[in-house]
Parts: sequence; C-alpha cells; structure tokens
Amino acid sequence: MSTTSVSPQALAINGGSPVRETLLPYGHQSVDEADIRAVVEVLRSDWLTTGPKVAEFEEAFAARVGAAHAVSFSSGTAALHAAAFAAGLGAGDEAITTPMTFAATANCVLYQGAMPVFADVCPDTLNIDPEQIAKNISSKTRAILPVAYAGHPADLDPIMKIAGERELIVIEDACHALGAKYGERSTGSIADMTVFSFHPVKHITTGEGGMVATNNAQFAETLRRFRNHGISSDARHRQSAGQWHYEMVLLGFNYRLPDIACALGVEQLKKLDANLARRREIAARYTAALREIPGIIPPVTRPDVTPAWHLYPIRLDAAKLTADRAQIFRALRAENIGVNVHYIPVHLHPYYQERFNYRGGECPVAEDAYQRLISLPMFHGMTDQDVSDVIRAVSKIAGCYIR
Ligand SMILES: Cc1ncc(COP(=O)(O)O)c(C=O)c1O
Repeated sequence: MSTTSVSPQALAINGGSPVRETLLPYGHQSVDEADIRAVVEVLRSDWLTTGPKVAEFEEAFAARVGAAHAVSFSSGTAALHAAAFAAGLGAGDEAITTPMTFAATANCVLYQGAMPVFADVCPDTLNIDPEQIAKNISSKTRAILPVAYAGHPADLDPIMKIAGERELIVIEDACHALGAKYGERSTGSIADMTVFSFHPVKHITTGEGGMVATNNAQFAETLRRFRNHGISSDARHRQSAGQWHYEMVLLGFNYRLPDIACALGVEQLKKLDANLARRREIAARYTAALREIPGIIPPVTRPDVTPAWHLYPIRLDAAKLTADRAQIFRALRAENIGVNVHYIPVHLHPYYQERFNYRGGECPVAEDAYQRLISLPMFHGMTDQDVSDVIRAVSKIAGCYIR
C-alpha cells in the first residue's frame, strides 16, 4: 500500500475529492424485518411492559453469556447504577475504576454517594492496570469497576484475585464487550456483576437498554427490586397470583425495560454471533492494512482474549506524522469517514475537575493515549466497500502527513 507522495491538495479538507460521497458513521444499528415483526407483535399484545418478553429476553441473554441470572434495565447506565447499589456502595466508600471509559462507569459510583478512584491503564490495551488497582486500594475501597475498553476484556484474573483477597465486589462494565471471551470464559460469567448496553451502536440493540448478568441470586433479587421502585414482586406476578398487596422494601427507581424493547432484544440476540463474526472480519481487515501504514498504530489484542470489537481505536505515532490528532481527525471527517474519539479520560471532564480538583497528570498513560486516539467506523452492517473506504482514507491522509 502506498503511503507516500500524497499532495496536500488531494485531501478533501484542502478542496480535493473525498474518498466517499456520503458520511460513513462510526457506529450504526442493523434492524431487519424479523425485528420489526417481533416489535409489532408486542404492540398488538396485552403486555407492553413487565410482560412475558422481559423474562424471555433475560433467560436467553443469561444462557448466551453463561450467567445464572440476567436482569434487564432501561439503559446500560441504569444497569450500572443498579449494580453499584447491589454492591452496597454508599457514602464513605470508594470504588476503583478506569479513566478510559464513558463517564457513566464512574458516575454510577457518585449516584450512590461513593467516591470513584481512577487507576491508570495498561499501555497496550488501555484497560485498567491491575498493579495500579492494587496501589489505589484503601481501607474505604469496596468495589472495582474494570471496563472492557473497545470490547477487549480487562485482565480479570488478577483483578478477581485482588478483589477476592480483600472481599471487594467486581462490577465489570462490559458495555463494549457482549460476546467477548477472556481465555475460554464468556464476558458475563466472570465478575460478580457484568453490565451490558443495548444502545444502537452496540453489538445488539433494543433502542435504549441494558442488562446485568450475575451468578449471585442475592444480587439478582436486589437488582430486580431496584429497577422496580424497590418493590418485591412485579405486576405480572401479582396478577397471576391474584394479589393486590405489594411491599416496597428498598428505595428503587423505574428502570424497567419494556416488552417492546425486550422483543427486539430477543430477535437481535439471535444475530449476535453473526454480528460478532462480521466485526471480527472488519477488525482483521483493518489491522492487516493499517499495520503497513507508517504513523498508524492499530489496537492490540492480547493472545488469551477474543475481543468483541465494539470500537476500533487506532493511535497516531506523533513522531512519524507532521499533523496532530485534531488535524487528522478533521481530515478524515472531510473524507466522509465518521471518526470519533474514545475517550476523554473521565477525570478530565469539567464536572470531575471542578468537584474533585483533578488537574491532569493523575493517569499519565490514559492521558497520553487520549491525545493520539481516533476511533474508526466499526459496526456489523459495514460493507466491504465501507471498510475499503476507511483504509483508503487513512492511507491517503497518513501519506500526506508522513514526516
Ligand atoms: C463503557 C460504557 N459504559 C456505560 C455506557 C452507558 O450505556 P447506555 O448508553 O446504555 O446507558 C456506555 C455507553 O455507551 C459505555 O460505552
């Protein structure tokens, strides 16, 4: 692949023709006729919410990820909040998490009045570094929240070991990692609770939606109550038992995922394996092509891991390029490649800086990576032509800005 002698005028940002005519988004859902039929069927039924599709989706999901229980929620964020509650996080507690994530991972700790503590990431995967977790443990630590960044599971064996030694609860944020494997084990079967999201850019979608998978029956019961106002049985069970009486036993929320969404989830789940296979194919094509382009560093996969490829984040090698991330990002957008950046480290958001006095420098590995990251489009509906367009655009731009 040629990466040299691209003149600046050839770039779309400088008036040249773009690699493609229409914008390729960084993520997009795939919804087919079977999905639509399933949703319409529910709309014609008696149960729009708290009906039979909820249990059907939860049972199919639990079986798929290898967990004893799965509890659905109105979003991944609600699922994280519920997991933080079930873990018993409260005022005076600390929970260790990664800065290289969407803010919701840390926010759920704050919802519970506890304190998120940011441990820096490993330079290869950008997942939380178990050594940094160990360094940040205090007498107040109660939970660890690793994130499977981009769909690559964090190093869970040492994390579970640290947690086991100190009786900490591990909530894995696997919103990027449905269908991933850590060794031979499925994401969802390892941590005390594992949280998933069904936002449209994810591996399967319910519009909005989330799930907590757990092998712990006590957590599952608390999660079910928390998503339903803290009430100890749901409407359908009361109806089938002919009971009017219910008890609110804890302060919960309405975080229920309706049957309309669960019906979509049941259908989408049937396509998960195909979606994962397509994402892996795209990742393999990207990596084979991009590793040949000077200045572009493809994401790393550790040998014992099967990632789910929610994102495909490349890093720029600043020493080899004459343009910075902002320029390259704008140039890719001008070529109609819908790139994104994941993530601004959480502690550098103004809310966190102002409330907790972060100034930068607290997590140097994550902060350095952030300056160089660009997420390329990655979704299972991408065509081969879409993948070629992305590779061509990256090659064109790197070829113009190479030192
Ligand atoms: C790592 C991570 N955690 C949590 C969430 C929140 O999920 P949701 O958008 O379903 O609330 C997201 C959403 O993108 C995410 O990427």
